[in-house]
This record gives sequence, structure tokens and C-alpha cells, in this order.
Amino acid sequence: MQNTAESRAVLLTGGAGYIGSHIAVELAASGRPAVIVDNLCNSSEEALRGIAEITGVEPVFYRTDARDKDAMREIVKKHNITEAIHLAGLKSVAESVSNPLEYYKVNLGTTLTLLEVLSECGGTGKVIFSSSATVYGVPDHIPVDEDAFAGTCFNPYGRTKYFNEQIIADVVAASEGRLSAVLLRYFNPIGAHPSGLIGEVPTGVPNNLMPYITQVAAGKREKLYVYGNDYETRDGTGVRDYIHVVDLARGHVKALEWLERHGEGKVEIFNLGTGRGSSVLEIVHTFERVNNIKIPYEFAPRRPGDIAEYYADPSKAERELGWRAELSLEDMCRDAWNAEKTLQSRAK
Ligand code: NAD
Ligand code: UD1
Repeated sequence: MQNTAESRAVLLTGGAGYIGSHIAVELAASGRPAVIVDNLCNSSEEALRGIAEITGVEPVFYRTDARDKDAMREIVKKHNITEAIHLAGLKSVAESVSNPLEYYKVNLGTTLTLLEVLSECGGTGKVIFSSSATVYGVPDHIPVDEDAFAGTCFNPYGRTKYFNEQIIADVVAASEGRLSAVLLRYFNPIGAHPSGLIGEVPTGVPNNLMPYITQVAAGKREKLYVYGNDYETRDGTGVRDYIHVVDLARGHVKALEWLERHGEGKVEIFNLGTGRGSSVLEIVHTFERVNNIKIPYEFAPRRPGDIAEYYADPSKAERELGWRAELSLEDMCRDAWNAEKTLQSRAK
């Protein structure tokens, strides 16, 4: 196969979504066009327009369910795909509790189809999978490194992440060196591309902190409910490792380069986080300071399933991938608000 731009195309499932659209931009910057597969069940073509405006190139896009094996086989053949970044899936923790079957069907089904199609193609295949720090459950130590015990997830969403990790490892092990994979455990991605042309666009009431804050700032919600102020943390509110989504996206490009260097038959896990924890109140106050907007808030009971504090030990990614998060909490808060405003005005 020639090393043309087209032969280096990377399959990006879920590429119209929040994280996927940022990965498409970073792939383009690294000279690899993305072939996006997304059924738009939690995103829209607006993200594709944003990617095109930022990169100057229309992304290749298929509106397809990533479980559709015939369609996926055709796309992989047509674009000579050997590398895939796999994000397609459902991500609401609450919904996964009320509708676990759908979560298992979609989140496992998309992975099984991708692995089947790449295995059938006969050549080598490299997969990067979007996992989550949620697989650590209540971590047995903090900062959480990749050796911390994983698998005690509290909800079906978390279990789909853990099961997918296991499935990928089993299939790679049986592939006689033809497949290899990197499992990326994301901490808390927030923020947006500085252009504001792509970002997080939740449908309905946001479950996560930053999109809730930006909707309060935009006047769409009256106030933020801070879930718990009696945790054993420095100010009583929950502490997480927030990472700028652009840093996170760059981590995928580095992981792809790592797979190209180390390849065949390997499965490696990397945390993508900053190594710094921030409390809910620190996020609120940073957002207020950077954007000069007041965020009214009220303390509310703890959210079931939440834990007090965790943040990553990202040193393995720095050592092996040559990647580290560069952007600050201020950047995250500024870019999140900029995207909320920009995307809102474009939607009118
Ligand atoms: P998102 O919902 O914005 O993106 C997921 C995309 O997948 C959406 O565009 C959706 O339309 C698409 N999709 C869903 N089911 C599909 C299917 N069957 N076929 C094709 N496309 C399908 O979510 P995100 O925040 O960008 O998350 C991307 C991935 O990262 C997910 O796998 C998520 O579980 C994982 N993750 C996210 C976070 C986070 O905080 N956002 C943290 C850890 C892991
Ligand atoms: C949540 C999910 C996790 C998932 C991650 C990314 C739960 C229990 N965990 O993690 O599985 O991988 O999102 O999608 O749902 N907070 C408020 N008010 C709000 C929203 C959040 O105070 O309106 C607090 C939370 O209590 C927490 C912090 O903000 O302390 C971050 O919350 P969130 O953004 O939902 O992320 P996680 O809880 O880390």
C-alpha cells in the first residue's frame, strides 16, 4: 500500500461527537485525514461544518451505525483503513442505569463490529479505544496510575468500558500479532477548540459539571447545584482531574504514533489526565474570574455513585507517548464559554 494521504486515513467512529470532532481536527493537523462514521444519535452535522471551517477541508463522513457490519466493511475497504480511533457509543451514566440493554447493545456492538471488520481484512490493524477513569471505581490509590485495580465500576456505562477493554485485549491476543490496541482512560474532558466552532452540545439537561455551568452562564438554567459540600476534600466539594479536550485529542495522535512504532500484538493502557485535581468550587470560581460572569450556585445532596476525589498519574503517557497536557484550567473555562456562545449564535 502506498503511503499516500488516503492510505493513512484513520477511521474515526463517533467523530461528530464532542471529543471525536476535536480528534478529527488534530488528526488533520498531523497530516492524517479522518474518515468519520457517526449515526448522529448524539451529535449533528454542525460539528462536521466546524471541523471543515477549522481545518479548511471537508471531512469524509458516513452517517452510519457503527454496528452495521456490511457498511463498515465497505468503508474500511474503500479507504484502505488499518487504523481506527473508536469513540462511537452512548455515554450517559443515568440512562445506562435505566436502560442497560441499550448500553450493552450499542457500546459492545460497535466494538465487536469494528474488531470483526478489521480482523477480516487480513492485514494489520491498530485500534485506539476511548475508555474512562470510571473503570477504576473507587481507586485504591491516588494519584491513579494504570496499575490501580480496575473493574469495580458502579453502573452499566462503566461496565461497558471495562468489558470493551477486556474484549479488545482478548481479540488482540488471538490475532497472532496482526492487531494491536491502545486503551485510553480519559479523566474529565472539558473545554473546546479555541475557535468555538466545535464543542460540547448536550441534548437536554447536562449531566456533567462544565456543560451545566456554561448553560447557567448563558441563562438557560437558573443556578448550579453543587452535589455535596461535606466530602473530605479541601473545600468539601468533589475533586476531579479536568483535562482540556484539545490536549485529550492530541493524546490520540500521540497514541497512534506509539502504535505505529511499537505495533504488533500489543495492548497498552494509558491514563489521559493532567495529574492535578480541582474541586467543584475551584472550577466555578475560575470560570467566574476568567469570563467575568457570576455563576449562582446552591449546595445540594451528594449525587449517588459519586466519589470524593481522584486524579490521574499521567506519567506513563508522558514517558511512553511523549505527551502531556499543556492547557490550563483558565484555558478550559475560557474555551468552554466561548464555544457555548459561538455555537448558540450559529444555531439561531
Ligand atoms: P458524544 O456523545 O459527544 O460522542 C459520541 C458519538 O458517537 C456521538 O456523535 C454519537 O452520535 C455517536 N454514536 C453513538 N452510537 C453510535 C453508533 N451506534 N454508531 C455510530 N455512531 C454512534 O460523547 P463524547 O463525550 O465525545 O465521548 C466520546 C467517547 O469517549 C465515548 O465512547 C465516551 O463514552 C468516551 N468518554 C467520554 C468522556 C466524557 O467525559 N465526555 C469520558 C470518558 C470516556
Ligand atoms: C461522570 C460519571 C463518569 C463519567 C464522567 C464523564 C457519574 C457518577 N460519573 O464523572 O462515569 O465517565 O462523568 O462523562 O455520573 N457536579 C455538581 N453539579 C453538577 C454536575 C456535577 O456538583 O450539576 C460535580 C460532581 O458531583 C463531581 C464533579 O462535579 O464532583 C464532576 O462531575 P461530572 O462532570 O459529572 O464528572 P464525574 O462525576 O467525574
